[in-house]
Amino acid sequence: MKRIYLITPGPSAVPSFIREALSKELIHHRTEEFRQILKEVCVGLKDIFCTKNPVVIFSSSGTGAMEAGVANFFSPQDKVLVINGGKFGERWRDIAKIYNLQVIELKLEEGCAPLISEVKAILDKEKDIKGVLTTLCETSTATVYDIEGMGKILKDKNAILIVDAISGLGQDKLLSDEWGVDVVVSASQKGLMLPPGLGFLSISEKAKDFLKNSKLPRYYFDLNKALKSYEKDDTPFTPSVSLIVGLEKAIKVIKEEGLEKRWEKFAKLSMATREAAKTLGLEIFSKSPSSSVTAIVSPSNIKASELVKKLRKDWGLSIAAGQDELKDKIFRIAHMGWVNQDDLIVCFSLLEKALRDLGYSFKLGSSLQRFQEVFYG
Ligand SMILES: Cc1ncc(COP(=O)(O)O)c(C=O)c1O
Repeated sequence: MKRIYLITPGPSAVPSFIREALSKELIHHRTEEFRQILKEVCVGLKDIFCTKNPVVIFSSSGTGAMEAGVANFFSPQDKVLVINGGKFGERWRDIAKIYNLQVIELKLEEGCAPLISEVKAILDKEKDIKGVLTTLCETSTATVYDIEGMGKILKDKNAILIVDAISGLGQDKLLSDEWGVDVVVSASQKGLMLPPGLGFLSISEKAKDFLKNSKLPRYYFDLNKALKSYEKDDTPFTPSVSLIVGLEKAIKVIKEEGLEKRWEKFAKLSMATREAAKTLGLEIFSKSPSSSVTAIVSPSNIKASELVKKLRKDWGLSIAAGQDELKDKIFRIAHMGWVNQDDLIVCFSLLEKALRDLGYSFKLGSSLQRFQEVFYG
């Protein structure tokens, strides 16, 4: 049997101590035992989200939580600003349109982060904008955005800041309350080291006011129902009990290591990854590289999708190609959740092998040396 190295920007590797927690005998959710777990998990999530606000858990992938982030805070024809720098900015735009909102789109050049001055100019011009929908790490281009800067310009406006931190949470620094983020959306399968299946959403006091006035339809994703239940450490519907038990363990491990330490570690891992790639003569795609994932431009004679296919087929290494029109142009290496320096050294070793097989020349072992110099040096 082939080894599996899961170094994609989600789902990310699930460590054995979490798999163990996931396989515990199932308990019923309307019990004191489960309520206690849910209570602790909700407190732990607040620490990871860097917020004092409630964090709600949905049995859905991250997109469900994104949909909840739109459906709960606005009314038909409300105007929102969507920062669209790739696949997941597009997702905000598409969800907002489905819910009949007026979308103003700030379309970014691929691999670029928004300029705060540009965001401010739009907000100054379009005074009736009710919300800004943006992303912490735009996974499709491996680009981190200046959320703190956006928080500052929205602070005194009658508009809420909604951030998709599905891939960024845990690696890219996010101080939700301090930066004035009203709603943070995330998911289980990346920085939190779990399988896919949980979506999360935090709600500020300002966002609660928007929730009161919102007239968009929703049922399963209704935050009024969820908040009411969570006050009693309960959930409105059957929760994903096993995943929440696994989450309790993940939170403990993250807490033991410390969130700040993890931010530093992933910043270093991402820097070592970029430097190792550059040593091979490869270009980094993003102008504002994230600590969660690195996008590397494939050599001109090698299609990224073929490189990725070969790595998976020959050696069981999963990294990701680009999405849509970037499919053959870039490949993406994740450094999130459980991924560490050893995994990335294996990744570069196999990447070197594949690049050589596909006819690309460079000094063998150079990326491994560079990675270690930067990470350990
Ligand atoms: C930034 C970002 N937003 C949204 C999503 C979609 O999340 P999901 O696939 O969990 O629905 C992803 C997943 O890759 C993501 O990275």
